[in-house]
Amino acid sequence: MDVQIKKGTERMPKHIAIVMDGNGRWAQAKHLPRTAGHHAGSKAVRRTVEYCAQQGIEVLSLFAFSSENWHRPKEEVDLLMRLFITTLKQEVKRLNENKIRLLFIGDRSAFSQSLQDKIKESEQLTCENTGMTLIIAANYGGR
Ligand code: FPP
Repeated sequence: MDVQIKKGTERMPKHIAIVMDGNGRWAQAKHLPRTAGHHAGSKAVRRTVEYCAQQGIEVLSLFAFSSENWHRPKEEVDLLMRLFITTLKQEVKRLNENKIRLLFIGDRSAFSQSLQDKIKESEQLTCENTGMTLIIAANYGGR
């Protein structure tokens, strides 16, 4: 992006969308299992959300899990589902305290009931927040 990002100026982007990709390649380059890449990816989500909120970005969209990702090995899909749940459990309170509104897009019906419940609960808890909107695209078609 060639636009200079500076808080409080006209040139600040309103909406940033990030395709979360390369977790596996990052881990491979460090001779680590792909799962280590996903753990690092979820830590990167925290840093990114914090940074964007501090910079006054209005909307941050994260493409976290495409519908094509169901074709990955079962252990990897299971780990990603666990990461979604644990990240939500750990972060929602803090997101709410920071006035961040959380929205999910994509077909959530394929997720476990506990993940669907957590998603709904997080959206309900944060729906009146007026700070940054964080959109998580989950089970959202890449095409
Ligand atoms: C792509 O990397 C990344 C994913 C398929 C999943 C990313 C999601 C998380 C880390 C969970 C984050 C949690 C929340 C609540 C947003 P890749 O495996 O396709 O990497 P590669 O292209 O190197 O193979």
